[in-house]
Amino acid sequence: MSQSTQIQIPAVETEFAAIPNTQLKVSRVALGTWAIGGWMWGGTDQRESIATIHAALHQGINLIDTAPAYGFGVSEQIVGAALVGVRTEAVIATKTGLEWRDGKIYRNASRARIMQEVDDSLRRLRTDYIDIYQVHWPDPLVPVEETAEAMRTLHKQGKIRAIGVSNFSVAQMERFSQVAPLHVLQSPYNLFERDIETRILPYCRANKIATFGYGALCRGLLSGRMLPDTPFEADDLRHIDPKFQPPRFAQYLDAVRQLDDFAQRRFQRRVIQLAVRWVLDQGIGVALWGGRHPDQLQAARDVAGWSLDAADRKRVAGIVNAAVTDPIGPEFMAPPSRSSSATLTETTT
Ligand SMILES: NC(=O)c1ccc[n+]([C@@H]2O[C@H](COP(=O)([O-])OP(=O)(O)OC[C@H]3O[C@@H](n4cnc5c(N)ncnc54)[C@H](OP(=O)(O)O)[C@@H]3O)[C@@H](O)[C@H]2O)c1
Repeated sequence: MSQSTQIQIPAVETEFAAIPNTQLKVSRVALGTWAIGGWMWGGTDQRESIATIHAALHQGINLIDTAPAYGFGVSEQIVGAALVGVRTEAVIATKTGLEWRDGKIYRNASRARIMQEVDDSLRRLRTDYIDIYQVHWPDPLVPVEETAEAMRTLHKQGKIRAIGVSNFSVAQMERFSQVAPLHVLQSPYNLFERDIETRILPYCRANKIATFGYGALCRGLLSGRMLPDTPFEADDLRHIDPKFQPPRFAQYLDAVRQLDDFAQRRFQRRVIQLAVRWVLDQGIGVALWGGRHPDQLQAARDVAGWSLDAADRKRVAGIVNAAVTDPIGPEFMAPPSRSSSATLTETTT
């Protein structure tokens, strides 16, 4: 792994968002590093991954989202290696509250687990503070208040600078907020996965909680690169993602093709930019864009500086609703609790 790097100040237009009640200012397109961890994505290449992180910083993307579960520490280690010498250029968002045994992950958001994990993450990330620390999944075996109290302690200690939760309901966020400040919510959000619009986004807006939408490209489906016979490596989660299975896959691909036509005619852009612009214009703070090759984030340069109006959004919804007659959500990604008898090697984060 490279030990140091020099990052040029970007000459690219980038949109930023302030995270309320913190000093943090983050790019509205962030680099997601789940695939960089390798696990569930067919492996990883460290040099390529580090080059991807540097390419993102070069083009003005300062927010990097990772997690211990992404490759069981590998993603965090790679992020840490990439940021040697440029730590202050980046805002690191990592997570806590999942444990792993024998290649399987389980929820564990207990105080003891969080206290152990934070030091493991700091070591892997080669830093003495985490900018945004997020509870990865709510744990049905641990009271939300216990989890929140542990996060509040870390915040007071200065080990973490902002507190986030991920995959939480409104009721869980309400309980959490009774005990600890809550700065960020991370949830799935893209053109095909819109559940958070009804309750979660309005709640966050009303309570000044910044929102990070994950899977902005719907695991690559909205990149425009997918074909019916696109191959995936051994443990790539798209082997089990229900959107990528026939007959549904054809419906989603049809929607993507029509969205791409629309993006080209109306905006002289492609579906990949339309998908991310749409997410941002819906009022979410940040779109998490997963990448593991340095050229993959280049397309993000064409996301800034334009927007969809009401008629465009109606047209986009019309395309999706007509093409996808049998929609399905991202529930397949939810990891089991420790009490579960499920043995999901394929459970994802
Ligand atoms: N909190 C949670 O529970 C949770 C859950 C899921 C994700 N996340 C976060 O959200 C981030 C983003 O989600 P995601 O990584 O699942 O999926 P995503 O952003 O929807 O899609 C990422 C994939 O899209 C493809 N892609 C990216 N740029 C491309 C380009 N320019 N051209 C063609 N294909 C391109 C790549 O696949 P290929 O490399 O295979 O081409 C990439 O791995 C994650 O990395 C993670 O940080 C959080």
